[in-house]
Amino acid sequence: PHLLILGPPGAGKGTQSSNIAAEFGVEHITTGDALRANKDMDISDMDTEYDTPRAYMEAGDLVPDAVVNAIVDEALNSADGFVLDGYPRNLDQAEELEDMTDLDVILSLDVSRDELVDRLTGRRVCDDCGENYHVEFNQPEEEGVCDECGGELIQREDDNEESVNNRLDVFEENTKPVIEHYQDHDGFVAIDGEQTPDEVWADIDAAIDERV
Ligand code: AP5
Ligand code: ZN
Repeated sequence: PHLLILGPPGAGKGTQSSNIAAEFGVEHITTGDALRANKDMDISDMDTEYDTPRAYMEAGDLVPDAVVNAIVDEALNSADGFVLDGYPRNLDQAEELEDMTDLDVILSLDVSRDELVDRLTGRRVCDDCGENYHVEFNQPEEEGVCDECGGELIQREDDNEESVNNRLDVFEENTKPVIEHYQDHDGFVAIDGEQTPDEVWADIDAAIDERV
């Protein structure tokens, strides 16, 4: 199936996409991870303000559309089923996506702003495999060490309070209209993202099962 997961920064898109990929055998396509792996690539020939994605990401601003559209286009070309996470983030990207592929299910995770700030500033990620943890809500068995691979847990550069607040503002302004745009799609389903991770997963699992 072709799945899209939408929601603000910290809503649990990455966490739930891992579950979806494992359960439904689809590829997890995430622009955030793809950009983090290519933070220092030279984008100066694309007529951008900065020469690499890094400066945009650390501030919590959007990386220019041309860069992100190319990443998604290539990833979709080599994927059969997928769960797309982190894209589209504005209406222009949504229009691009329409030219690239169709969608079966669109999941929209809802979480309040206060909760998002707590989740993001407390998040830790594995430096080796990218697995997500939280200092309070999702602790590893051993502090600072990844359960999956033994890697070191670190804080993302954009999970400081200032960048987090900017990311949430960018979401309100650019990405909320994308969610409104998809609300009339047959496959659209709103999920209460403020429940426990297991409860959110149960709702998502059932919603996808019903539609594919
Ligand atoms: P990206 O990597 O996409 O970051 P994001 O959208 O800010 O989303 P996050 O990864 O922060 O949150 P998430 O929803 O995946 O939540 P998670 O599961 O980790 O983008 C980063 C940057 O890249 C952007 O700022 C931009 O610069 C650039 N970029 C990316 N895509 C772009 C695009 N299309 N166009 C332009 N630029 C782009 O969960 C968060 C935390 O909460 C974790 O600690 C987790 O353990 C915990 N948690 C999860 N679920 C629950 C729960 N139910 N209860 C309690 N805690 C929970
Ligand atoms: Zn790991």
